[in-house]
Amino acid sequence: MYFKTSRTALVILMACLFGIFPAAARDRSDVVLGVANGLAQTPPMGWNSWNKFACNVNEGLIRSAADRMVSSGMKEAGYTYIIVDDCWQGARNAAGNIQPDVKKFLSGIKMLADYVHSKGLKFGIYSDAGTKTCGGYPGSRGHEFQDAAQYAAWGVDYLKYDWCSTDTQDAQSSYLTMSQALAATGRPIVFSLCEWGNSKPWLWAKNIGNLWRTTGDIADIWDGNHPNGYSMGVLRIVDMQAELASYAGPGHWNDPDMLEVGNGGMSDSEYRAHFSLWAIMAAPLIAGNDLAAMSPATQAILMNKEVIAIDQDPLGIAGTRVWKDGDAEIWARPLKGGGRAVVLLNRAITSRRIDVSWEQLNYPADLTAKIRDLWRHEDIGPAKGMTGAVVSGHAAVMLTIRP
Ligand code: GLA
Repeated sequence: MYFKTSRTALVILMACLFGIFPAAARDRSDVVLGVANGLAQTPPMGWNSWNKFACNVNEGLIRSAADRMVSSGMKEAGYTYIIVDDCWQGARNAAGNIQPDVKKFLSGIKMLADYVHSKGLKFGIYSDAGTKTCGGYPGSRGHEFQDAAQYAAWGVDYLKYDWCSTDTQDAQSSYLTMSQALAATGRPIVFSLCEWGNSKPWLWAKNIGNLWRTTGDIADIWDGNHPNGYSMGVLRIVDMQAELASYAGPGHWNDPDMLEVGNGGMSDSEYRAHFSLWAIMAAPLIAGNDLAAMSPATQAILMNKEVIAIDQDPLGIAGTRVWKDGDAEIWARPLKGGGRAVVLLNRAITSRRIDVSWEQLNYPADLTAKIRDLWRHEDIGPAKGMTGAVVSGHAAVMLTIRP
């Protein structure tokens, strides 16, 4: 036994010395990365400043978001991270340390993070793998370990890391560098890759980060491309992510971008569909609206605990599109305990009936199952073989089906 072990060790040593194992595998072997940080076992939930406030961030806004997260009931519903997106940065100081813009963040980031923590929430920040952020502020290129150490000293719990001004940089190695820098701090920090799906991060980022954007930016519209030329509607994003479910799982999630619920560009019915689809896809639920000005409908959507429970199902199996007929679609997701969550999606303007069969859910046809409508909050009785609903235009019905 002893002989066998030492011979194996010798073989590995020789293989490393003579380059049988690729250099990358050797270099990474002792580094704690991505999934190994043990975070984001279910998709992260929180709020981010970008979708509503873009570059208009300051400490008052972020403090108020933290306050509202608690007073609205969102914290109780599961939202945890308060994330400052782009444009918080000032210049680097003489030692090269990144500083906030003092006009916007007079008390400094540490005080702000402390405040967020005092509310029982976690604090997130934004940087970029290139020389400049998308808003033109200093990026982390060449300062990765210094920035990670600074974030950890401030008490940062979540880093969103963008991909502007990266020139010829390689995405995988750039994100790996920051992943290693975060790991080196010893602080648990969720790592959110925001590379827009350009180099298919679902193929390589599982051991680097906890979530990765699959597409360009979301716009507050139902479908198609926004006239700004770079952002796109909910359905277009869903179509781009539809085939990626198998890459997601506990600790590593596909990220179809932050929520637009409550930002005013879509109807409440469209926002319910948006939220349902994010939940069935096991997407991060990062609210992007003004938490100080939520309509009752917006609150009912963002705090629908039954839909949130689907998103946060501990199995962490992302849903897939199991059927499509023109503008009608069925999405399904297996749940812990043998049930299924189902979204009946009607992309068209006019209403239509959509039925889901047990065959589409991998259930025997003679199985009797309990059906619940997660938006009406109603049990709609047992069914055998199939169930369905009339779905209004630009809407979704979300059900659970449990044997
Ligand atoms: C990119 C990202 C957005 C946002 C902006 C900030 O467009 O994809 O989510 O962070 O940058 O400038």
